[in-house]
Amino acid sequence: MNDTALLGELVQLVVQRIGLRIADDAHDGFLGILRERAACLGYTSLKDYRTFLVNQQAIEEWEMLARAFTSTETFFFRDHGQIDLLRFHLLPELIAQQRIEKTLRLWSAACSSGEEAYSLAMLVDMLLPQRDDWNIFILGTDIDSKAITKALLGRYEEWSFRMFPAELQHRYFHLEGKQWILEERIRSMVTFRVSNLVNELFPDSDSELHDMALILCRNVFIYFDHAAVFAVATKFAETLRVGGYLLTAHTELIGHSVPELESRLLAEGVVYQRRISNPAESLYISHPGETTGETPRHSTMQPNYISQVNKHYPPAHVRESVENYSPTQLCSDEENLLKDARIHADRGDFDLAERLCHQALAVAPLAATPFFLLAQLAQVKENFNQAKECLNKAIYLDPRFVAAYLELAALSERANDNPRALTLRHAALDIARTLPENELIKQYETTAGELVQWLAKFEPIPLNQ
Ligand SMILES: C[S@@+](CC[C@H](N)C(=O)[O-])C[C@H]1O[C@@H](n2cnc3c(N)ncnc32)[C@H](O)[C@@H]1O
Repeated sequence: MNDTALLGELVQLVVQRIGLRIADDAHDGFLGILRERAACLGYTSLKDYRTFLVNQQAIEEWEMLARAFTSTETFFFRDHGQIDLLRFHLLPELIAQQRIEKTLRLWSAACSSGEEAYSLAMLVDMLLPQRDDWNIFILGTDIDSKAITKALLGRYEEWSFRMFPAELQHRYFHLEGKQWILEERIRSMVTFRVSNLVNELFPDSDSELHDMALILCRNVFIYFDHAAVFAVATKFAETLRVGGYLLTAHTELIGHSVPELESRLLAEGVVYQRRISNPAESLYISHPGETTGETPRHSTMQPNYISQVNKHYPPAHVRESVENYSPTQLCSDEENLLKDARIHADRGDFDLAERLCHQALAVAPLAATPFFLLAQLAQVKENFNQAKECLNKAIYLDPRFVAAYLELAALSERANDNPRALTLRHAALDIARTLPENELIKQYETTAGELVQWLAKFEPIPLNQ
């Protein structure tokens, strides 16, 4: 076998066993790592190493390779938008649906060192303080056994709390030396184990992997090959109970239409729901505070909030326009700066992302999109006034910036100013109606036509209801 054929086989093998995509321009680095690993294990040729990898027993080696090609970076409450979505909408809805059965099954898939799974446990603790008669099962899995060992300990350095409210840090952890120790009551809510999402069979009624109400799988699909994303997302869909939700990081499922999953556009982003055969099931109305120990800040837990746009998500024309998208407001330098800013924001490097936005503005002071990203970054830092200011600037610079009106509406709602939120949504609706139906609203990965359908249904519940 020549070198090119061997390389091709190794790339394929990695996809088949752990799902990871090795891009063409990463082949040199890939071969370098494989040669290093082969030498560590005493193999003198890549061909012998390949034969070893094909052997089913090479589980630890596959784990080593996954570690070499992915990052295990994670932290508590990593995505505030999604945490709000879980806290104020999805978990209350799921809890309300299960109020008779009193069972809640949640899975943080590819959880790394456990911060995401424990974030779920803390949210459940906040929402269901009295839960003795509930059967709560929260599972955290990852291919990396070292990460799972760390997760099981429930001990974290300050860095894991970089986006976490100090009040919650003191509520749920205590400091021992330089480590924050998670309260046993929360630690014991989560079960952890090693699992390779690609080769583990699920759903499986003999394991824990079935009838999940919610699967959180974030920042993993970005590393996966297209076919692996589809295969794992399909398994997730089948592992959810009907009406259950799959959450990924933003845009991770773009270009993948999983038949069992219906995408739903919410103010905080897109979620995927296992298709509901009886539409009445999805129309459960829970009133704020009904199931929870506290009053939600948002008043949006009603069916018209969760619209059924994007039925076949994403439609072909959206996929095309996402792939070919090039902002008109920005020339290529600013565009690249902003692209980098988004990448760093996704990685959690918010300060660098912010600096890159300011650099983009230095080059193109009249561009509205950097202000939009700055507003999102300000929200991550819970600086809502600054977020508002940035969104107002975005609208000033681009009075037809639909997403900026919608974000501003969400901020008004957060501040309990529902009339203002409604006015802003109407403004967004008016603009969206004037756009070509197929025009992409890239911030929401949806089209103007679909957005119009959603906004037309939107009516916030009065606060005192
Ligand atoms: C960036 S971390 C994501 C952690 C967490 N979900 C978050 O968003 O904060 C990616 C994780 O995916 C895990 N991973 C990579 N390939 C995997 C596979 N085939 N099966 C299970 N986990 C995998 C890695 O070990 C790593 O811990």
